[in-house]
Amino acid sequence: MKIGILTRNKDSWCSMQLRRAFNKLNVKSICFRFQDIAARVGFKPEFSINEVDLLTELSAVIVRSIGRGSLEEIIFRMDILHRLHRLGMYLLNNPLAIERAVDKYYALSLLEENGLQVPKTLVAESASVALSAFKELGGDVVIKPIFGSRGIGSTRISDPNIAERIFRALDFNHQVLYIQEFVPHGYYDLRLLVLGNKVIASMKRVASSWKTNISLGAEPVHYDPPSEIKEIAVRAAEILGCELAGVDILQTSKGPVIVEVNSQPGWKGLQTVTKINIADEIARYVLSKTGKD
Ligand SMILES: Nc1ncnc2c1ncn2[C@@H]1O[C@H](COP(=O)(O)OP(=O)(O)O)[C@@H](O)[C@H]1O
Ligand SMILES: [Mg+2]
Repeated sequence: MKIGILTRNKDSWCSMQLRRAFNKLNVKSICFRFQDIAARVGFKPEFSINEVDLLTELSAVIVRSIGRGSLEEIIFRMDILHRLHRLGMYLLNNPLAIERAVDKYYALSLLEENGLQVPKTLVAESASVALSAFKELGGDVVIKPIFGSRGIGSTRISDPNIAERIFRALDFNHQVLYIQEFVPHGYYDLRLLVLGNKVIASMKRVASSWKTNISLGAEPVHYDPPSEIKEIAVRAAEILGCELAGVDILQTSKGPVIVEVNSQPGWKGLQTVTKINIADEIARYVLSKTGKD
């Protein structure tokens, strides 16, 4: 029995932490990339990596990262996860949850429909449609890639001329325009890590500008959330079906607002302000789900 870790880089910090956590528990783990997989239809094994038959050798797969790729590659990777799931493999997270969380429009729609506060957001394909939203959203907006992460490609715009220029360029490149009201937040937000209906670690991310991603230099600060904030994070993860989730929350005058739920969260920054070992928690959780703990 082995645990699979789907990762772009087996030596990345989080993947190493997971490998070490399974080692400590005397459980073998193997890291692999989507590019390593041979997927078969009409003959067996359905999935292999070199000589390893994934379905017989692995009892769970932790999806560290779907990664970047062409539309075909991403759809194929999701197809692999769906088939693994249908054939009985335990996946953290499951593919439907990943699809819901990765797509910021899909995620925010579901959160709103279930009564959670999200920023006003307008999504459109056309620059002229999007321009009408510029005023509706208060003339101070954040535009982000609908499938983005780590704050990359997000811009704050309050000049209508710049808005028009950017919207037209994105439209020309066939990118979906995802435009959000700017929510004043004092240059910090809350990141809560949810695992199996519990918040296992939290931090404030304190930045020197409006983007509070650790990858952009924000500082992790220890944070002990009140139960109201914990409940919102757990609820958000549950609505999207994520057993593991990094929930980003802005504190505003109207209460907590969720900007994003990450289905493949990293925890390097969070670990520095957390007593528990996060990788150990994840490893134990996965083993409990596969009945091998
Ligand atoms: N509407 C907004 N108003 C103010 N700040 C925002 C808004 N949306 C995002 N941010 C800031 O930018 C960061 C990155 O945005 P997020 O939606 O989490 O995308 P990413 O996937 O790039 O992390 C957030 O953590 C927050 O600090
Ligand atoms: Mg984020």
